[in-house]
Amino acid sequence: MKAIIYDRYGAPDVLELRELAPPVAAGGEVLVRVRAAALNPKDSLIRKGKFKAASGPTFPKLLGYDVAGVVEALGAGITKLRIGDEVFGMRNGFTGGTVAELVTLQETELCLKPVALTFEEAAALPLTSLTALQALRDLGGVGPGARVLIHGASGGVGVVAVQLAKALGATVTTTCSEKNLEFVRSLGADETLDYTKETGLEPGRDWSCVFDVFGNRRFSTAKASLGPRGVYVSTVPSVRSVFDDLRTRWLPFKKSRLVVVKSNTTDLEALCGFVERGQLKPIIDRVVPLAETAAGQAHVETKRARGKVVISVS
Ligand SMILES: NC(=O)c1ccc[n+]([C@@H]2O[C@H](COP(=O)([O-])OP(=O)(O)OC[C@H]3O[C@@H](n4cnc5c(N)ncnc54)[C@H](OP(=O)(O)O)[C@@H]3O)[C@@H](O)[C@H]2O)c1
Repeated sequence: MKAIIYDRYGAPDVLELRELAPPVAAGGEVLVRVRAAALNPKDSLIRKGKFKAASGPTFPKLLGYDVAGVVEALGAGITKLRIGDEVFGMRNGFTGGTVAELVTLQETELCLKPVALTFEEAAALPLTSLTALQALRDLGGVGPGARVLIHGASGGVGVVAVQLAKALGATVTTTCSEKNLEFVRSLGADETLDYTKETGLEPGRDWSCVFDVFGNRRFSTAKASLGPRGVYVSTVPSVRSVFDDLRTRWLPFKKSRLVVVKSNTTDLEALCGFVERGQLKPIIDRVVPLAETAAGQAHVETKRARGKVVISVS
């Protein structure tokens, strides 16, 4: 099978399209023929060598966590999916592999693809939408009547966070650059702020949840803008965000939490529900062919993508 791989850490030009032996589905795993995958900042960070301890010392390394495709083969013990099912999902952990013609995932990391979505649209959803759902609903406690600030609303996670926060019943304020204000408003945001002029973190805004998607704000600053039981959620693992999470986790108010996305069928099915009710639509910045994955990664690394960069595989 064809796959994008790399033999050393470095810039996007270390990526190569190479022929590899196809993977085999072990017990509990499903072999998926990939129709589309999507890129995330996580792929770039691993390729640059930022997560060496987690991604392990061996090369070549494969790329990609988001996938949409067709079930090709089943390992032992698969109970729900069948050969020929159209599925989408996200690989957990730090060994990618979806930017390839075939990939294995745990059955629990997959779900039937919403029929209304193309493979490219479905591949644009899992990692970012699971992150947003788990950050807002599970950590931020966002539900009807919540007042949410989403900082950095026009990227991969941001565009789905706006839609999911609205779907959960919140009033949503966002920050983004000036050129994206109208675009983010079109996703359903009630208020859009240019982050070069206003941060939304002024004392007294009384947010139920501040979701710092871009991750360059601090809990210490956000705290004054939170309501009495407000929660600040960051996406960026750092000594500070981990410490703040541990320090405030058991407090009844003004917590700082770090989201660590986890793929699971239940949450993927919840995403399908939002799609079917017309509350969540994938936002694709561009689709690039498998052979041009390096250019796709370079675009993600500009930190200017509007929504997702999707890889069309077959
Ligand atoms: N912990 C987890 O489980 C988890 C899961 C998913 C993602 N993440 C992390 O979450 C972060 C966001 O991921 P993503 O996929 O949304 O990234 P992304 O798609 O690459 O984000 C691009 C967006 O960032 C915005 N941006 C650039 N500079 C900004 C600034 N100074 N302030 C605010 N926004 C700015 C841009 O909007 P403008 O052009 O409007 O500025 C652009 O739309 C990444 O660091 C990623 O690694 C963590």
